[in-house]
Amino acid sequence: SLKRLMPSDIRAQKGAAPVVVLTAYTTPIAKLADPACDVLLVGDSVGMVLHGLSSTLSVTMDMMILHGQAVMRGSDRALVVIDMPFGSYEESPAQAFRNAARILAETGAGAVKLEGGVHMAATIAFLVARGIPVMAHIGLTPQSVNTLGGYKVQGKGADAARLMADAQAVAGAGAFSVVIEKIPARLAGEISRAIEIPTIGIGAGVDCDGQVLVIDDMLGLFSDFKPKFVKRYAELGTTAAEAVAAYAAEVRAKSFPADEHSFFDEAKK
Ligand code: KIV
Ligand code: NA
Repeated sequence: SLKRLMPSDIRAQKGAAPVVVLTAYTTPIAKLADPACDVLLVGDSVGMVLHGLSSTLSVTMDMMILHGQAVMRGSDRALVVIDMPFGSYEESPAQAFRNAARILAETGAGAVKLEGGVHMAATIAFLVARGIPVMAHIGLTPQSVNTLGGYKVQGKGADAARLMADAQAVAGAGAFSVVIEKIPARLAGEISRAIEIPTIGIGAGVDCDGQVLVIDDMLGLFSDFKPKFVKRYAELGTTAAEAVAAYAAEVRAKSFPADEHSFFDEAKK
C-alpha cells in the first residue's frame, strides 16, 4: 500500500493543491473515503452523528480513541486526524499533551485537532514542540456553543479582526493547518491569503485552501438538520429507508427468504 500522507505533506499542499477532507468514524466509511481524501477527520461530531448526543460537549476520550482505531484500520493513504474532546486539553498545555499523546499512541493516527485561536496558541506550540502535529479549528467552535450563544456565523463586521488574529496565532504556534468554520467567505479568503498554512473551510466559502464536510451529511445519512453549508451529494438515508421497508414487507408477505437464500440437505431437482 501507499505511504500514508503526513502533516508536512498536507502543509505543503498550500498554493499547490486543494486539501480534501471528510469526517470518518468507522472502518467501512474510512475504506470508502480513503482513496479520494487527503485527510480523514475523526471529528467529535461523532457524538451527535452516531451516538445521538445533542452537542459535542459530552464526547469522551474513550469514544475518540475507539473511533480513531476503527478509522485507522479502514485507511492506508489519508492522514488521520483525531479531534480532542471537550475538557481534554483546555486546562493546561500539560493536560493537552497527556491526552494528545494517548490519542496518538493508542490509535496510530498522525495528528490531533483542537478548537481555539489566540487562547490556545501556547498549547499548540507546546504540543508541536513535543512531537504532536496539531490541526487548529477557529470560527464557529462547537465545543464553545454555550459561550457563543448558539451555532452562529462568526467573524461578521468588527469581529473579523478577532478571526484574523486567531488564524495568525495558530499558524504562528506551529499548527500544520486550520479548520475555519462558518465565517463570511470574503474573510475566509483574506485569512487564507494572510497565513502560510492551509485553511480547511466548512461554511467558509470557496477561497479556503481545502474543504471539509461531515460525510454523513453529504451522503444524506444524517438528516436531523441540514446546515446551509452542507451539499448533499447523495441521499443514502432515503435509499436505506426504502430498502428496510422492502425487507419488512417481504418478511411479512413471506416472500423472503427465497430458495436462493436457503439451504437444503439434498440438491434440488
Ligand atoms: O467534528 C467535526 O466533524 C469537525 C469538522 C466539522 C471540522 O470538527
Ligand atoms: Na469537531
